Amino acid sequence: MASQTAVAAASPNIALIKYWGNRDDALRLPANGSISMTLAGLETLIEVTFEEGRAGDSLTLNGRAAPEEVLSRVSQHLARVRELAGLRAGARIRSRSNFPSGTGLASSAAAFAALTLAAVQASGLRLEARFLSRLARRGSGSASRSIFGGFVEWHAGKSDKDSFAEPLAPGEHWGLVDLVVILSRRRKPTGSTEGHALAATSPLQAARVADAPRRLAECREALRARDFARLAAVVEHDSNLMHAVMLTSRPTLLYWSPETVRLMGAIAAWREAGMEACYTIDAGPNVHCLCAPQSAQRAARRLQSLPGVLQVLRCPAGEGARLLAAWPRLSSPG
Ligand code: PMV
Repeated sequence: MASQTAVAAASPNIALIKYWGNRDDALRLPANGSISMTLAGLETLIEVTFEEGRAGDSLTLNGRAAPEEVLSRVSQHLARVRELAGLRAGARIRSRSNFPSGTGLASSAAAFAALTLAAVQASGLRLEARFLSRLARRGSGSASRSIFGGFVEWHAGKSDKDSFAEPLAPGEHWGLVDLVVILSRRRKPTGSTEGHALAATSPLQAARVADAPRRLAECREALRARDFARLAAVVEHDSNLMHAVMLTSRPTLLYWSPETVRLMGAIAAWREAGMEACYTIDAGPNVHCLCAPQSAQRAARRLQSLPGVLQVLRCPAGEGARLLAAWPRLSSPG
């Protein structure tokens, strides 16, 4: 081999039932199972080229050299692929995203799903989707879900082998829309890897984890029956439970801004008044307003008019990670 290249694209996902805390940090075995919707419109592209004789790896993000700590996390992930494929070559990697990273928009889910697929393909391995999901999990837990499109469940499992995601239903099953409300583009001070490690310091985490099978069943059933009221109740409750754990961790993790709280109140009030919308919030101040198809336009208009709202992205359910024939040439900055 002189060099082997592959390009993949993947999208982030929004967790309807959240993953927070690991039973094993090194293997990223989650404390509880989770359910998500993969988001259309937001995309990370990654190209991996293994070059014979090359010593280290290099990485550009949107055309710029990546910070050392990002490169090191990516190299650790590539090491897993090299080991599987029996490869020694270093890699040249470029990545481009059409949405901000490190702001609680699950950028690591899209990045590690695309990186896993591109690296596996470039290495010459051919792995089934379930194995790709397990491998992506090692880079970032939520990336295990972005391997698949539509509605996805990640089974917590008890070991590396049985902790993987799989599709629950295709996106066409229900035209839900995630309105991603950007309140801040600033990098969050505590990333999710550090956050997961703090979860067990909250006395509420054990109760949150113990009740997870009930919430997962409730969410599965609401999705199956396309029952928005039922889905909204469990999605908001689950998000609040995760933030209760964050708030009571030591040290405290407070991801909300005053605007976040204002939006939580506003969206809950709109639902009281008959709109099919609910909120869910990841590890950042931005709010995801999940809407039934017929409520999405009205909710987006209202959200746009609120103070502090920088942007509203409209994301229906999208595709899982996919291979591309080549790096798109036209608008390429990298
Ligand atoms: O995959 P990570 O380590 O970025 O963790 C994701 C954590 C949450 O986004 C807060 C919840 C989730 O299930 O996506």
